[in-house]
Amino acid sequence: MDKNLKLYTKDLNLFYGSTQALKNVTVDIEKNKVTALIGPSGCGKSTFLKTLNRMNDLVHNVKITGEVYLDGSNVYEEFDVVDLRKKVGMVFQKPNPFPMSIYENIAYGPKIHGIKSKSRLDEIVEKSLIASALWDEVKDRLKQNALGLSGGQQQRLCIARVLAVEPEVVLMDEPTSALDPIGRKEILDTISQLSGRTTVFFSTHILNDVERVCDIVAIINHGRLLTQQNISSLRRSYSFRKIYLEFEGEPDISAILKGHLWIDRLEKSNKGWYLHPTDLKAAQQALPRLIADHGLVLRRFELVEPSLEDIFVRLVNNQ
Ligand SMILES: Nc1ncnc2c1ncn2[C@@H]1O[C@H](COP(=O)(O)OP(=O)(O)OP(=O)(O)O)[C@@H](O)[C@H]1O
Ligand SMILES: [Mg+2]
Repeated sequence: MDKNLKLYTKDLNLFYGSTQALKNVTVDIEKNKVTALIGPSGCGKSTFLKTLNRMNDLVHNVKITGEVYLDGSNVYEEFDVVDLRKKVGMVFQKPNPFPMSIYENIAYGPKIHGIKSKSRLDEIVEKSLIASALWDEVKDRLKQNALGLSGGQQQRLCIARVLAVEPEVVLMDEPTSALDPIGRKEILDTISQLSGRTTVFFSTHILNDVERVCDIVAIINHGRLLTQQNISSLRRSYSFRKIYLEFEGEPDISAILKGHLWIDRLEKSNKGWYLHPTDLKAAQQALPRLIADHGLVLRRFELVEPSLEDIFVRLVNNQ
């Protein structure tokens, strides 16, 4: 086993009855790095995350084939579920606080694992809530019921609850999707701080989040892994570039550019246009004349590297 691999799957298949939700998924999750799992709605992200700490064990009619390894040991054959979940914590897509106080939600796990000292528990509760960026909002009402918190606060509480038992791996299913931009930034900061000492694997729809905090990205579609790479090498291997055009008077250029073979698609941005070429060189050669022939006055003409979003759209469309 590669010593930098914390968790990996090999040819993982999962069936809900006769519907196959995961198809031969082989993913490597590196130790103490942040890996993102992205893919369209319904592609199997939640299903995949849950198989990593055996959350599908009790789901009716689920069949799993293939393997999942944690530190080189088979998660389905060599682990007791309680031990596994102490090492691999999970934050679910929908926040699920226990119907008890904010304090007790966090102290619950450490208590189960044998911590009895009140001062030690106080410390853990405070540290975990600070790490999940919730402390300032709840420090004066720790005894209140957690179900009274807002959706975003409940999500941060669930993150704190997982961090309280100091798992080696933290799985998070769309941890930022229920949050406002400030809440999102705070959770991303928490994820960044975990990086280097905890292995984080999280699913998301928000590609900006991936660019901000991840080392590696795995992309799935229809239950199949399309690629897994670190972000810079993903950019290199899909280094198609697009052209940004901006004109005086901001004219609509879609009719002028219609029908040329070197154009794949045209995308309107705030002040200008992104032209996605099928043939970059041909586009660069043809554009100046076309622009001049139509009397357009160019303000900006730039070659732009693809964003993660562009790569994602292309990968999913090409499948
Ligand atoms: N308990 C279940 N029983 C039957 N089918 C299920 C079950 N859970 C999920 N599925 C199906 O498996 C597929 C993958 O679902 P999953 O929830 O893993 O997708 P997802 O990528 O997490 O989607 P989203 O981004 O919307 O959360 C979907 O087609 C879904 O309908
Ligand atoms: Mg999901």
